[in-house]
Amino acid sequence: MDIAVVILAAGLGKRMNSSIPKVLHKLYGLPMLQHVLDTVHGLNPQKIVVVVGKHLKEIEGSINISNKVVFAYQKEAKGTGDALLRALPYLGSFRKTILVINGDTPLVTKSTLKRFFLLHQKKKNDLSILSFMSRDPRSYGRIIRDGKGKVLSIVEDKDATISQKQIKEVNSGVYAMEFSILPLLKKIKLNESKGEYYLTDIVKLAADRGKKIDAFCIGSEFELTGINTLEELENARQLMRERIINTHIKKGVEFIDKNHVFIDSRVKIGPGTIIYPNVYIEGNTIIGKGCKIFPNVRIEDSIIEDEAVIKDSTLIEGSIIKKEAVVGPFAHIRPESEIQSGAKIGNFVEVKKSIIGEGTKAQHLTYIGDAKIGKDVNIGAGTITCNYDGYKKHVTTIEDNVFIGSDSQLIAPVKIGKGAYVGAGTTITKDVPPDALALSRVPQKNIEGWAIKRRAKHEEQRAKSKE
Ligand code: UD1
Ligand code: CA
Repeated sequence: MDIAVVILAAGLGKRMNSSIPKVLHKLYGLPMLQHVLDTVHGLNPQKIVVVVGKHLKEIEGSINISNKVVFAYQKEAKGTGDALLRALPYLGSFRKTILVINGDTPLVTKSTLKRFFLLHQKKKNDLSILSFMSRDPRSYGRIIRDGKGKVLSIVEDKDATISQKQIKEVNSGVYAMEFSILPLLKKIKLNESKGEYYLTDIVKLAADRGKKIDAFCIGSEFELTGINTLEELENARQLMRERIINTHIKKGVEFIDKNHVFIDSRVKIGPGTIIYPNVYIEGNTIIGKGCKIFPNVRIEDSIIEDEAVIKDSTLIEGSIIKKEAVVGPFAHIRPESEIQSGAKIGNFVEVKKSIIGEGTKAQHLTYIGDAKIGKDVNIGAGTITCNYDGYKKHVTTIEDNVFIGSDSQLIAPVKIGKGAYVGAGTTITKDVPPDALALSRVPQKNIEGWAIKRRAKHEEQRAKSKE
């Protein structure tokens, strides 16, 4: 679209009572500012200027930006009017409509912004304000209209008279401005009660000069809510959670209880997948079609391919679970692991930076770290790859069709050749050739009648002690 966007994000956010810059507080995986940025990118603007203040470094380090985005610097938080003024030099030769938006409005949608811009264009306004009806308008500027509905000014709550405080139509902090009214920014006077230059004062300045102004009351409080406090952030989180879940439901994802599932904004889930309660899906996770995610699972930055099953109380971090693999219950898949198709990772199994080949099974009480395991391997209960010597990590290689007996330790670096067997209770310290049997346990001996003698001795001692 033929617009440039300015996002105001240089405020101090004092009302948050938090050391984190306000616009970096997260809602479902993304900072508020990122939500606003992603939404305005959807309008395909020519340029996006983000005005940031003393938290410039932190913000730059936490936000993903495209080549359309530039940062403008507002050294002191002298108000929204001053903030917009700081952005102007970065607009260069751009002379068309500027969409201004507060960086603390993360729920705003592309469709509302688009509708707002089209109305502004259609009416050929100099200045348009996106307004909404608020049930509790105290933290917003009120839209002041004359008897005919013409917009005269915006008055902040602090400066409002008792009758103005009754007004429910409020400013969302989204404006469309033509280049011609920007010189009025310099005419905004310092608001003495707050020590700030209010951008909202531009409305009266423009109205007094006969500029064409409208407030379009088209958005809902649901999406235009501004976040100034942690309480408001928490409310916005709830709204965003519902929005995310409902979007997945529309795309064919099934939830057993949609009120107790937490899914980050960028997560993708295929149709036919069923998600049980108390599941957290975070970061850049992609889940395929027809998967089952059972209760109390957390998945972070991972890929779960089609028809995979993640059973109860499992944590998966930075890993790939391929088609039809089954993981859990009570499994921990740590970063850089790949569980290949049809593999099974079961109860109390921890996998770290390892490849588990197709059809391989490690079903019980096992630690697999820095291992490369081939196809159709059977890892018995209690197997441990001893990958760490106190200084370095070493690799365990297990080739296809190997059988590892229960309670075995594999002291890495070590390689078990294709088709080999490792007897239960073995401590592997050197490579095992293909198709061999490796055994390290002490041969068993049975002492006939030992227990009879042991009991007799015990009886004898007891009789003696009674005498
Ligand atoms: C502002 C509006 C109010 C509107 C509300 C909508 C003003 C004076 N008031 O109030 O009419 O109803 O938003 O949510 O604009 N910022 C800067 N530099 C500054 C001060 C603020 O960049 O010096 C940024 C903040 O980071 C924030 C945005 O501007 O993203 C709005 O500032 P904030 O202090 O939250 O304004 P509100 O009191 O909410
Ligand atoms: Ca605000």
